[in-house]
Amino acid sequence: MTVIELKEVTFGYSEKRPVLRDINLRIDEPGFYCIVGPNGVGKSTIVKCLNKILLPQKGTISIDGEDISGMDYRSLSKKIGYVPVFSQDAFSMSVVDTIMVGRFNHSKTHSLEENLMKVYDAMKLLHIEGLAYKKFNELSAGQHQKVAIARGLVQETPVLILDEPTANLDVKYQVYVMEMLRAISEECGTIVLTISHDLNITAKYAHKVIMLSKPGIIRAVGTPEEIFTDENIKAVYGVDCWVEKSSKGVSDEGQDAGISIPHITLGEALSVDEDE
Ligand SMILES: Nc1ncnc2c1ncn2[C@@H]1O[C@H](COP(=O)(O)OP(=O)(O)OP(=O)(O)O)[C@@H](O)[C@H]1O
Ligand SMILES: [Mg+2]
Repeated sequence: MTVIELKEVTFGYSEKRPVLRDINLRIDEPGFYCIVGPNGVGKSTIVKCLNKILLPQKGTISIDGEDISGMDYRSLSKKIGYVPVFSQDAFSMSVVDTIMVGRFNHSKTHSLEENLMKVYDAMKLLHIEGLAYKKFNELSAGQHQKVAIARGLVQETPVLILDEPTANLDVKYQVYVMEMLRAISEECGTIVLTISHDLNITAKYAHKVIMLSKPGIIRAVGTPEEIFTDENIKAVYGVDCWVEKSSKGVSDEGQDAGISIPHITLGEALSVDEDE
C-alpha cells in the first residue's frame, strides 16, 4: 500500500512570499482524490512539489516513508506518474510515440510488443486509436489532453497525478475521464490525485476532496459531502451558492449506492480578489 505524506511543507517562488504554508497531508489508501480551490492558491504548485519539480523551503514530502528529496528522479517516476496541465508542447512526434514515452520505465522489463499493446489499450480506452499516427502538435486541445492522459495511464505507477485532466474536454469526455479515473483507483488500487475547477463533477466522482484556500493552506480534507458545504464554498471562492444533497451515488451497477452527493448551484460572486 502506497503512502504519501507531506509534513509542514512550505514553498514559495520567492523567499518573501510563501505560496504553500505548513501543508500537512497524508494519503494512505487508494482512491480518487481531488484538489480544489481558487486560481492561484497553489494547487499546481503542490503537485509540482510532489514530483520534485519544485523543492520546498521547509518540511518534508515522503512516499512509502522515503523522503523524496533524497530520491533520484528515475526512482520517483516509478512511483508517481504525472500529467501536467495542458501545455503548448511542440512535439512533432506521433501520438503513438508520445504515449510510448510513458512506458520508459518498463522498457527493460517488457518487450516492445508488450509495451506497444499497453499503448494501444490506453488509446482504445480513450477512443483515440484513430489518432495513432497523427503528430502530437497537430491535435486539438481536447485530443492533446486525451493523449496526455493516455501517456500518464501507461506508466502504471501506484500514484497518478493529473493537473486539470478534464480541461478542454467536451462534457461527455469530462464525465468519461472522471469515471475512468475513479474506476482505475478502485480496480488497480491506485492513488489518483487530480486538480479540478468543476465542483459538481468532483462531487460526483471523487472519494475525497482536498480543499485549498488562501493564503496557501489546506482548509479541509474529506468526502465531497463533508467538504462541499455552502459555508466552505462561500469562504474559499467568495461566491454565493446553494448546496442540495442527492442520494444517488455511483455504484458499479449504475444503481443508487446510498451515497449522498452534494449538488452545488452557484449564485453571485460575493467578492472578486485582485490576483497577486
Ligand atoms: N513559475 C512561477 N514563478 C513565480 N510565481 C509562480 C510561478 N508559478 C506559479 N506562481 C505563482 O504561485 C501561485 C500559485 O500558483 P499555482 O499555479 O500553483 O496556482 P493554481 O492553484 O494551480 O491556480 P490555477 O487554478 O489558476 O491553475 C500564484 O500566485 C502564481 O502566480
Ligand atoms: Mg494550476
